[in-house]
Amino acid sequence: MNLIVAVTKNYAIGKDNKLLFHLPLDLKFFKEKTTGKVVIMGERTYLSLPKRPLPNRTTIVLSDNMAFEAPGAKVVHTLQDLFAEIKNHKSEDVFVCGGASIYNLLMDFCDVAYVTVVNEIVPADTYINNVEEHGFKLESSSEEMQENGHTFSFKTYINKSPKKF
Ligand SMILES: NC(=O)c1ccc[n+]([C@@H]2O[C@H](COP(=O)([O-])OP(=O)(O)OC[C@H]3O[C@@H](n4cnc5c(N)ncnc54)[C@H](OP(=O)(O)O)[C@@H]3O)[C@@H](O)[C@H]2O)c1
Repeated sequence: MNLIVAVTKNYAIGKDNKLLFHLPLDLKFFKEKTTGKVVIMGERTYLSLPKRPLPNRTTIVLSDNMAFEAPGAKVVHTLQDLFAEIKNHKSEDVFVCGGASIYNLLMDFCDVAYVTVVNEIVPADTYINNVEEHGFKLESSSEEMQENGHTFSFKTYINKSPKKF
């Protein structure tokens, strides 16, 4: 299973249930990685999408709300049900896509983390755990890129001992 996220230097990922930056290159990277695959997200992230579910992906939404409906997506309410659902797919085809509660819940089960690091600290209200403090080792990093006044790079981390599910 993979994790894919854009973070600041201090691992902020959102504010007011929105992303912190508009980076078309990062959105393109996310689309390339996840198209045709399975994306897992929390209810708040699902509701934050301008168009939902994301096209050409199998979407699984985790929600505590038993009445929550997400047309075109599969809603699950427990970790056990989530794992039962993703067992039907190849692990490398499954992407954990946020938000913070879902990243932190599933990080230790992921084999690979694709982390776009924006070289800034900005006001935010949502943060995730640092993958390097959760057994992930940096495997590769792109050159630094610039877009919309932001500098960022695409980093790939490998989890040396992912938890089994
Ligand atoms: N930078 C990025 O790459 C990126 C990507 C995605 C999202 N984001 C940002 O992240 C923020 C949203 O993150 P968030 O943490 O507030 O929300 P979230 O993780 O998207 O969704 C939280 C939802 O998941 C449910 N949930 C969590 N754990 C659960 C469990 N074990 N079983 C059942 N349901 C569970 C919660 O229910 P309860 O609240 O009822 O417990 C809540 O409804 C937004 O700002 C968004 O833009 C950033």
